[in-house]
Amino acid sequence: MRIGIPIEPDVRQPLVAATPDTVAKLIKLGYDVDVQSGAGDHAAYPDDLYASAGARIVGEDVWRADIITTLDAPPRECRNLMKPGAMLVSRMAPGRNPELVDELAASHFTSLAMDAVPRLSRAQSMDVLSSMANIAGYRAVVEAANSFGRLFTGQVTAAGKVPPATVYVIGAGVGGLAAIGTANSMGAIVKATDLRPEAGEQVESMGAEFIPIPVASEKSSDGYAKEMTDDQATAAAKLYAEQSAAADIVITTANIPGRKSPLLLTADDVRAMRPGSVIVDMAAANGGNCELTVPGEVTVTDNGVTIIGHTDLAGRLPGQASQLYGQNIVNLFKLITPDKDGTPILDLDDEIIRGITVTLNGASASKGGDGNVEAETTGAATDTRILWPPPPVQVSATPAAAAQEKLAAAATAEAPEKVAFMGGAKAKVGLALAIILGIAVILASPATVSVNYMVLTLAIVLGFYVISAVTPRLHTPLMSETNAISGIVLVGAILVVGSGNLVVSSLAFLAIMLSSINIFGGFTITDRMLGMFRKEEA
Ligand code: NAI
Repeated sequence: MRIGIPIEPDVRQPLVAATPDTVAKLIKLGYDVDVQSGAGDHAAYPDDLYASAGARIVGEDVWRADIITTLDAPPRECRNLMKPGAMLVSRMAPGRNPELVDELAASHFTSLAMDAVPRLSRAQSMDVLSSMANIAGYRAVVEAANSFGRLFTGQVTAAGKVPPATVYVIGAGVGGLAAIGTANSMGAIVKATDLRPEAGEQVESMGAEFIPIPVASEKSSDGYAKEMTDDQATAAAKLYAEQSAAADIVITTANIPGRKSPLLLTADDVRAMRPGSVIVDMAAANGGNCELTVPGEVTVTDNGVTIIGHTDLAGRLPGQASQLYGQNIVNLFKLITPDKDGTPILDLDDEIIRGITVTLNGASASKGGDGNVEAETTGAATDTRILWPPPPVQVSATPAAAAQEKLAAAATAEAPEKVAFMGGAKAKVGLALAIILGIAVILASPATVSVNYMVLTLAIVLGFYVISAVTPRLHTPLMSETNAISGIVLVGAILVVGSGNLVVSSLAFLAIMLSSINIFGGFTITDRMLGMFRKEEA
């Protein structure tokens, strides 16, 4: 089948739904690709690059392709150019646009909403909301830095000390985490808050300090936040006001799917901020998290706080945003083209495909064994069904609450066994016998050897307590330290390997072998790990 990549009908949209790289990947999946001349111009992808990737450069005819992919659902005049029975793959906010859904069905289109991809780990590679939020989070920091009249990083110069900027991020989802990482890499001190307590670990792993809302909320079962309780809202409002007043830059990203963005910063909160501070309201398009945000504009308050309400943050990096969007589309086509033959198969048993299928032109729809429908797009206009909204999916960025409970139950079921192992009567008797045996061996040994036994015993006890007290995150450096001990073993073994005693020589030989493996293996692994962080030579 033929996929068409038109110029985005909205002239304000600088992105394109496919880049030369993703066109080549679609062709590998067996599709022919038509690109409308000039489609990639704003993202710096000229026609000749698409042509070299294997696309056919066409004009308005692009709309006659079997499958159309765009950023946003095209307006009616463009849809009128499409073939009945064609497939449309784009963002379409079906929940907010019931009229559009009816019209897509009336035109007998099969339509797949890229903005309805469920938040499953398996679906991450197709999640355009995450791709765009990631880019937008980075750009939010760049915009903030541009408006902020000072350095992000702290410096000590001959002329005096410059303190680092303080960045406070509210909402640590995909966009928030990208903003945290970017601000951190620019040298700012970064703090962040999220309604979901489980976000704390991710915030800390990005190098920021997590400041929880004092009234705890439940773990999220789907990776998205739920509405706050009244107690939480009061505690959160106080926290946001305090932290914003102390910050140079505040980036708000709070989002609750299907609802207007929650209000986090009131006009009074903004008045309490220092002159020169900057707020980037990433949620501006959906109403905004700050009372004073003007969507799409940059405003400066009377007390000198700049509020950035850009709604096109991802569009300000069109080259990479288009590449990520195009790659999300390629990943979707990989899923629906199992035979790589250029024919999409919509298996509605698959929760990702079911989740994004808004309308289905059911030319060859057939009932599957358990009532699920497996359909193949044919390009022919026949009965078309509206499949929106999809049945709820237990989409889970973290284990769902029930699963968490099961895990907890399993853990407690296992716990008694562990306790029995460590503290049961049999174990105590065994431990006592081992100690008595150890003492007997030490006493029966010659004086020089018994000192060695005592050192060994103390080393084992000390080692056990030291290693079990080290956080697992530090185990790699800890292992590097123990590799150094292998070096000492190696030297000792080399010294005694030549002794006349066969047992001593054999043990020394074994020690040389094992410690050498440990040392050289350690160096090799460390080198490979460091290689992952090395920039490739140009
Ligand atoms: P997300 O849903 O992954 O993250 C939002 C985070 O906010 C979640 O972690 C949630 O727990 C948290 N949150 C919700 N209510 C909160 C509250 N009252 N207090 C503290 N945290 C709260 O969303 P994602 O994908 O990271 O997008 C972030 C925002 O960026 C969204 O509003 C999205 O619409 C917007 N966006 C803006 C773009 C632009 O150009 N301006 C482009 C792409 C996304």
